[in-house]
Amino acid sequence: MKMLGLETSCDDTSVACVDAAGVRSNLVSSQIELHDVFGGVVPELASRAHVRNVLPVLRAALDRARWELDDVEAVAATAGPGLIGAVLTGLTTAKALSWALRIPFVGVHHIEAHILANGIGADMEFPSLVLVVSGGHTELVRVDAPGRYQRLGITRDDAAGETLDKAAKLMGLGYPGGPQIQRLAEQGTPGRFSLPRAMPQRSNLEFSFSGLKTAVRLELEALGPEPRSQDLADLAHALQEAVLDVLVSKTERALQQPVTAGVRSLALAGGVAANGPLRARFAELARRQGLAYTSPDLAYCTDNAAMVAHAGRLRLLERGPDPLGLPAFARGGVSSWI
Ligand code: KG4
Ligand code: ZN
Repeated sequence: MKMLGLETSCDDTSVACVDAAGVRSNLVSSQIELHDVFGGVVPELASRAHVRNVLPVLRAALDRARWELDDVEAVAATAGPGLIGAVLTGLTTAKALSWALRIPFVGVHHIEAHILANGIGADMEFPSLVLVVSGGHTELVRVDAPGRYQRLGITRDDAAGETLDKAAKLMGLGYPGGPQIQRLAEQGTPGRFSLPRAMPQRSNLEFSFSGLKTAVRLELEALGPEPRSQDLADLAHALQEAVLDVLVSKTERALQQPVTAGVRSLALAGGVAANGPLRARFAELARRQGLAYTSPDLAYCTDNAAMVAHAGRLRLLERGPDPLGLPAFARGGVSSWI
């Protein structure tokens, strides 16, 4: 089945063509330059850019796949969560295509798409314990099968990616901060700064990162107005280690609890899953626990429509199409998405 996918939930306009053989095209038009000067995504600017970009990106994705519009057999789009005006652009475009071409439409949960990206070109073993880490989300999810999700714990405040983005902004680095922190951390000296690891009520599976951002701000103030580049590299290293320690230890804690009984694999999902050291530490954790391990290809970690088309195909085959009245939503966990 030739499935078109659309993803416009935040600041990337993405369209992908996916069929039984795999991903035929996956185009992402980034709005990084548009939002860079503001140090974060401005929702109204994002919506307007999606409106401008969605049809040209759609055309380019079809061309890259060598598909005509009439070849498309089904269409999927992210229905939420995300910036509502942004979500609506892709969702409405998908519904219009479904109506005009008389093909089935499917709505996809953004987190579901990130999770199932582990199965693009690879086998994801279920049940799986998945750490979803992105700019908007940090949560542990038990996945028994595609469509069967149980959220085990979320962040109480900032998401892991948001923490990296905000700290990078304080350090005068560009947006998004995660890749910049990873690059800078490679030059950093371990142990120079000691940053807090928040473990709210040790036995629960919640995360908290807001204290870490404050600690980075205080270290920067102590370094003075013009820190040396080595100081920034050392701080980036300490920050990345602090974030990773919390993510890995909470995942390890989850594996000791009855809610993860029978889990056969460990997986990463979301933009922060592109982080090299995090991938290495997860692979090592899985090895120690005797579990299989997957992480999506780098192209499918940050927001992209291939993951939406892939999840949409599984959903359509399993549950059939959604009505065109399916609403967009700004918030909502993946557990309640059925
Ligand atoms: O999944 P995503 O594209 O958007 C959301 O759904 O939020 O994730 C974006 C996040 C940003 O916070 C970005 O800084 C982070 O992913 N990120 C990384 C890396 N690449 C992207 N964080 C750490 N290391 C990376 N290599
Ligand atoms: Zn995302």
